[in-house]
Amino acid sequence: MEDKIIVFDTTLRDGEQSPGFSMNTAEKIHLASQLENLKIDVLEAGFPSSSEGDFEAVQMIAQKVRTVQVAALARTSKEDIDAAWGAIKQAANPRIHVFIATSDIHLKHKLKMSRDQVINQAVDAVKYAAQFTNNVEFSAEDGSRSDRDFLCKVFEAAISAGATTVNLPDTVGYAIPAEFADLVVYVKGHTPNIGKAILSVHCHNDLGLATANTLASINAGARQVEVTVNGIGERAGNTSLEEVIMALHTRRNYLPYYTEIDTREIYPSSRLLAMITGIPVQPNKAIVGANAFAHEAGIHQDGVLKNKTTYEIIEPATVGLKTNRLIMGKHSGRHAFRDRLRKLGYELSKGDIDRLFTKFKDLADKRKEIVDEDLEVLVAEEVLRVPDTYKLKYLNVISGTATVPTATVQLEIQGKEKQKAGFGIGPIDATYNTIAKMTGTKSKLLRFSIDSLTGGTDAQGGVTVRLEENGVQTLGKGNDPDIIVASAKAFINGLNRLAHLKRDSSAHKTK
Ligand code: KIV
Ligand code: ZN
Repeated sequence: MEDKIIVFDTTLRDGEQSPGFSMNTAEKIHLASQLENLKIDVLEAGFPSSSEGDFEAVQMIAQKVRTVQVAALARTSKEDIDAAWGAIKQAANPRIHVFIATSDIHLKHKLKMSRDQVINQAVDAVKYAAQFTNNVEFSAEDGSRSDRDFLCKVFEAAISAGATTVNLPDTVGYAIPAEFADLVVYVKGHTPNIGKAILSVHCHNDLGLATANTLASINAGARQVEVTVNGIGERAGNTSLEEVIMALHTRRNYLPYYTEIDTREIYPSSRLLAMITGIPVQPNKAIVGANAFAHEAGIHQDGVLKNKTTYEIIEPATVGLKTNRLIMGKHSGRHAFRDRLRKLGYELSKGDIDRLFTKFKDLADKRKEIVDEDLEVLVAEEVLRVPDTYKLKYLNVISGTATVPTATVQLEIQGKEKQKAGFGIGPIDATYNTIAKMTGTKSKLLRFSIDSLTGGTDAQGGVTVRLEENGVQTLGKGNDPDIIVASAKAFINGLNRLAHLKRDSSAHKTK
């Protein structure tokens, strides 16, 4: 009988805390529902003591998600553990995840603690957490650079104190696969009570080895893997969920283990995350990149046409990638519409579906074919948006070879209509200058990108901007067949999100 590998997803904690990937509560809840469809085992929802916003988001996820365990991260202090428990206690199956660093580098320079102090603190924290639930995970931060015998001592003490999972992180992505596997074997052989806990691994990708290290550790005896969708996470990211899952799936002859993951939900999960964060997946990314199943070279195309297995090791449909895309139009009914949204990872309320269906019909009247990307745009604009402080009412832009680019903008600002005209180097610059004057924003534009979301000359242009004000960063997204309008919408969406963040305590993240 094959062993099961427990899939612990930390997209909403380790992934979300990395720069550029922050999400608001509604977005986190959407993603959490999709992770439930993906059938992960444990969902790490956040770090509740880091901010009120994080606490609330974890609490809402814990209430919503019923079929997977919900974990919350805590340092070893009682305050952190209280916050973690407070946020997840209503979950169907809550897990408290306590961590402290164990490497001498961290002890000396960060914690300024002795090894004995670290063990005592770990034991006290695990005992305290175990009063609330018997589902307690203990992580030895920077475990891969820790003294091996000390690491085993800490794990032994944590398990005696009540930890049911002990996690070995390669926090700085320093390990090499054979070395990391050897460490796992060592921990298994030198932690006397290891049989009473699940041994987990958590790898970072600084040397591009996170997936390799994770797979090597499974063969060495780890039975939980900590991963993120699209491999997002601190610095170079965490272990990518889709890579580990599809390696296990594809190479079962070499890796005889199973997971509960529904692989057909991998691609929808990846798309949803990219849509929410506005950060696209690199085209050559394994499994979920746009080119992952594209065969360009003539010899390859010829081979695939003769027999797919010549150059294809995974059927695209296995990861939920449809090669024959379902096209919807004005004759598509509400049922098909809801079903398609569900397949794209959007589990929406009846009210949202009704509102979106009306918009969908309007769009379908104007355009012959509606593809998945159009539906994603509809959801982004109608459901995942923050309340409007600023609303675009009207935009007229004049530009060309013999004129100074000029934009006339009408905005509704907190219920009042305002109009102004301004100039710029190009039409987008003129539009942005005018909007900036009207809103009085002090934000800096850090990034501006335009993508074609659908094919053809009537394609939706998708614009993403990254804004920063007083150390708070946010994204803005706008879509429209007219790229100047899409640009204006993206800027205004970013300003609305900044205004929302200012009101929302999650703007004061301390992590
Ligand atoms: O990378 C790390 O060490 C972590 C721990 C908190 C598990 O994210
Ligand atoms: Zn980490």
